[in-house]
Amino acid sequence: MRKSEIRRLVDAAKAVCSRAYAPYSGFRVGAAVLTSGGDIYTGCNIENASYSMTMCAERAAMFNAVTNGHHDIIAIAVYTDTAAPIPPCGACRQVIHELGRGATVIMACPSERIDIKREDDLLPNGFTEDNLGKTVP
Ligand code: THU
Repeated sequence: MRKSEIRRLVDAAKAVCSRAYAPYSGFRVGAAVLTSGGDIYTGCNIENASYSMTMCAERAAMFNAVTNGHHDIIAIAVYTDTAAPIPPCGACRQVIHELGRGATVIMACPSERIDIKREDDLLPNGFTEDNLGKTVP
């Protein structure tokens, strides 16, 4: 990915981070996905008094892309207001594996440091349609 594309995606994740609904943890996360057609969809974490109902920012962003007709995610940026970038949780890695096989995962925070990994390095041997004996069109 070009530096300008990475910057654009991180800026979108940063902008939506402020919309996080995180009254319980106080931990705000913003995410932005890039589709193969160049569109960007964003999401933030949304917590609930019934804690396990919480939705992570990454999945909110990916579901936003699907809701808008896209399941060809090529990159996802995650932004947190932390000292170091944070990686996506296991559940989000599984969903990235489904909707963005081989996607670039960009992790950013207010510092200069940006971590970049391939999703399949973050989730080796992820469960896929193959394990169900299915093919996804
Ligand atoms: N969270 C995310 O949104 N993404 C992650 O990858 C890790 C965790 C959220 C869930 C919860 O609202 C808060 O961060 C603390 O776990």
